[in-house]
Amino acid sequence: MKILGIETSCDETAAAIVEDGRHLLANVIASSVKEQALYGGVVPEIASRRHIESISMVAQKALDDAGLAPEQLAGIAVTYAPGLIGALLVGVNFAKGLAFAAQKPLIPVHHLRGHIAALYLTHPGLQPPFLCLVASGGHCHFVQVNSTTSFAVLGRTVDDAAGEAFDKVARTLGLGYPGGPAVSKAAQTGSPTAYKLPTPHVEGPYNVSFSGLKTAVLNVANNAKMKNEPLDIPGLAASFEHKVADILATKLAAAARDTGATTLCLAGGVAANTLLRQKVQQQADLLGAELCLPKLAFCGDNAAMIAAQGYFELQAGHTSGWNLNGYATMPIEENYSDITL
Ligand code: KG4
Ligand code: ZN
Repeated sequence: MKILGIETSCDETAAAIVEDGRHLLANVIASSVKEQALYGGVVPEIASRRHIESISMVAQKALDDAGLAPEQLAGIAVTYAPGLIGALLVGVNFAKGLAFAAQKPLIPVHHLRGHIAALYLTHPGLQPPFLCLVASGGHCHFVQVNSTTSFAVLGRTVDDAAGEAFDKVARTLGLGYPGGPAVSKAAQTGSPTAYKLPTPHVEGPYNVSFSGLKTAVLNVANNAKMKNEPLDIPGLAASFEHKVADILATKLAAAARDTGATTLCLAGGVAANTLLRQKVQQQADLLGAELCLPKLAFCGDNAAMIAAQGYFELQAGHTSGWNLNGYATMPIEENYSDITL
């Protein structure tokens, strides 16, 4: 069963075709990240406009690469939530038009469910249940994946998402956007013990908080500036990166221990972080749990993950009518068919 996936929730315009939720046939991404970097972050208006310009060509290329016509697809899957609303609506409307013209099922996909489905593309044998940390620019969830379409959030960030913290720290340190890769690069030559950063206190066993950590980095930078002292940017980047990776790996391990999870997973843009991958591997080894990591190409936003999840949603009967809308926020547990319109 071949599904075309469409993803336009942030600054990537993407289309991909996946067979049976696990086998990639085509994967096309056009990104406005270089233009967004000029402004130090995603400008929603620019993202929407670039999606409008690119979506038709990106989708056509995915079909051409797979050698398929829309009539040969089993359905059209599209990210409908959460994300930038103007950006989401471009993908939703495009998918609607294509599905209507080809008379194919329209399959709404939750963006974070998609990030998790990236794991099935990397590990075709992976089956739920498993415990997954989903860490992106907008979210940071510890998710119990009960089945391919059933999820329970065990814990989350109470303030900033992990990726957002990387982006803000990168901006403070003048390292550019997107912040995750920039902070990691700077940290390579720094010492993780250069600065003693606080471990934020947070209620709830599996919740995390990054706002205080981000402010602590800002204070170190401002103090150095005021006192006219040199700032060890690689040291500060390394201290921050280690702290974030420690917090996330420790919480994931605690959740795994308490729930008896034997398979741990990472997903989302921050799952590309090498240090986080290493620290989570160490925790998995200590627990005797298996660790599944997504391929780097499937960590950041892409449509392959949406096509993969679309297959499972279609199997579960989760399709929508032509009144499908986009939503800026939506809990991962929610099925589109259960939302009261
Ligand atoms: O999943 P994603 O591509 O988009 C959202 O759904 O938000 O995640 C983007 C986020 C950005 O905040 C980016 O800085 C972060 O993922 N990121 C990283 C790395 N690569 C991307 N964070 C830490 N280390 C990385 N290597
Ligand atoms: Zn994402």
